[in-house]
Amino acid sequence: MRFSDETLLDIMKRFRMELGNGLGQDTNPTATVKMLPTFVRSIPDGSEKGDFIALDLGGSAFRILRVKVSHEKKQTVQMESQVYDTPEDIIHGSGTQLFDHVAECLGDFMEKQNIKDKKLPVGFTFSFPCAQTKLNESFLLNWTKRFKASGVEGMDVVALLNKAIKKRGDYDADIMAVVNDTVGTMMTCGFDDQRCEVGIIIGTGTNACYMEELRHIDLVEGDEGRMCINTEWGAFGDNGMLEDIRTEFDREIDRGSLNPGKQLFEKMVSGMYMGELVRLILVKMAKEEFLFEGRITPELLTKGTFETKHVSAIEKSKEGLTKAKEILGRLGVEPSADDCIAVQHVCTIVSHRSANLIAATLGGILSRLKDNKGNPRLRTTVGIDGSLYKMHPQYARRLHKTVRRLVPESDVRFLLSESGSSKGAAMVTAVAYRLADQRRQ
Ligand code: GLC
Repeated sequence: MRFSDETLLDIMKRFRMELGNGLGQDTNPTATVKMLPTFVRSIPDGSEKGDFIALDLGGSAFRILRVKVSHEKKQTVQMESQVYDTPEDIIHGSGTQLFDHVAECLGDFMEKQNIKDKKLPVGFTFSFPCAQTKLNESFLLNWTKRFKASGVEGMDVVALLNKAIKKRGDYDADIMAVVNDTVGTMMTCGFDDQRCEVGIIIGTGTNACYMEELRHIDLVEGDEGRMCINTEWGAFGDNGMLEDIRTEFDREIDRGSLNPGKQLFEKMVSGMYMGELVRLILVKMAKEEFLFEGRITPELLTKGTFETKHVSAIEKSKEGLTKAKEILGRLGVEPSADDCIAVQHVCTIVSHRSANLIAATLGGILSRLKDNKGNPRLRTTVGIDGSLYKMHPQYARRLHKTVRRLVPESDVRFLLSESGSSKGAAMVTAVAYRLADQRRQ
């Protein structure tokens, strides 16, 4: 699981090839990294204003926000938000149930905000791979991560949500834009830093988007300007490209997942799988009596008992070992001091591999951006959001360091975007609203 820079550069090269395949007319249908056009053509220009609602479904929490953008000397953004439950039986039930639930929560939110009689523009962050032909039409290609509601794949999620809202009949909504969470993150950061042209999520899942030259996007007409592309890099490796670096633990994770054979890169790096990867390694080490004097408990053998937030806690520099003792104690394995040190080491190896792999794919995007611009040096900003990146004590530092080493001809600013993924949907809606307004006038 530990890679030399040479290996990372090689992975970066493979990823760049996949980017090209996803963009090309002939190679796109069979490409694994899908490179989906988003129909977002520019970042906010600072003149947007209005009162918007944002829905954010598909990350670690389902959130609804009210975002007010106003101008008094300077553009300011004011937000109020609420988190709603998405119970297991709903995300694994029928699509109708899922969208009825979303519509019900939206109704509750509007009620609490006292805006049920208004028809506010809504932006929808929907964090799954979608084929779009315009901003407010978005066909789900396939579910990823924890979601598996029936009857949604292949459907337009705007139509499904509109139908659920109509059926209720107690309020009206105007869904103006559907955006991936990566796009939301890029847009939010773009608001503060005009140089932002990449958005990344490292959370439950992982993915990235960036601004590509329209002349390179075969699937969209026109040659002038740029468009944001949702790479869906989680699927990198689904064609066998990463077999040489996948381990027995990665294969086991995949076998036990909701989508075997799919999202193989995501399964090696993202928060939904990281704790479980560590657990599988600990089980093997215990079986071989390298840990816990060979003690194996039913808890240690149970899927999901070791979570990614535990990896983060154990890697804390001061209290990490105490945390390890506590967490392993709850699994009933009675760890010795040496066991705790060894487990901390395993956590570091797994989370470091994740940061290294993301550095390689991000390096691929950065080097492509640099070539697109034709400048010897690239100066750019990357917007990032996601629970793993935010919560893990060393992750960000390791990622930044490795990216700078792999792409030395770049000056990259990493911008953490607090709730960027959801706020961004409102920003896209605000831009769409401004443009529609200009057309009306
Ligand atoms: C998964 C989804 C992708 C999303 C990412 C982060 O990879 O397929 O659309 O951006 O998770 O939430």
